[in-house]
Amino acid sequence: MKTEQPFLTDVKELRLRARANIKDGAITPAYKGDVKQAIEILQAVLATEIVCVLRYTMNAVVATGLSSDGVKKEFDEHAEEERGHLRMVAERINQLGGKPNFNPEGLASRSASEYVEGANLVEMIKENLIAERIACEHYRELIRFFGENDPTTRVMLEGILVNEEEHANDMHDLLVAHEGKPMLPSN
Ligand SMILES: [Fe+2]
Ligand SMILES: [Fe+2]
Repeated sequence: MKTEQPFLTDVKELRLRARANIKDGAITPAYKGDVKQAIEILQAVLATEIVCVLRYTMNAVVATGLSSDGVKKEFDEHAEEERGHLRMVAERINQLGGKPNFNPEGLASRSASEYVEGANLVEMIKENLIAERIACEHYRELIRFFGENDPTTRVMLEGILVNEEEHANDMHDLLVAHEGKPMLPSN
């Protein structure tokens, strides 16, 4: 005897629709945002994170001077965390149906923060603090932008923002430790 199975029918329908939209990656018709624009924004975020990895890694290698060991360690830790960020962002671009742009060509112009090396330990810390503050501002703006239209991307960015705020705080603490006073006005 045949019984009505509306739920299964729904599942079948959902599967059919998912199959029809398979080219769109993980994105379903319920996605409220503009996917193309989301991918474009995330490419800029990816470039920013790549530049952060490069800057911190470079800084960790060249940091010299009194009590540079602790600072080197901090730079290395940050480089590793920035790599984690770039990986998450690249995965999200892929899920949205885009191709993460790792091309070194044009990287600096795609990035929200600049690649500034810093001539000495204190300059490096200052440049990193500036870059972290830019990153925090950028992420706050993007979190508002994605809002309810793309909660998955928003939640990912919220997680990264928490980490960037810690980075800014770490750089600020190092600056105070090395200069005896904060060199940049607080936000
Ligand atoms: Fe980051
Ligand atoms: Fe950071």
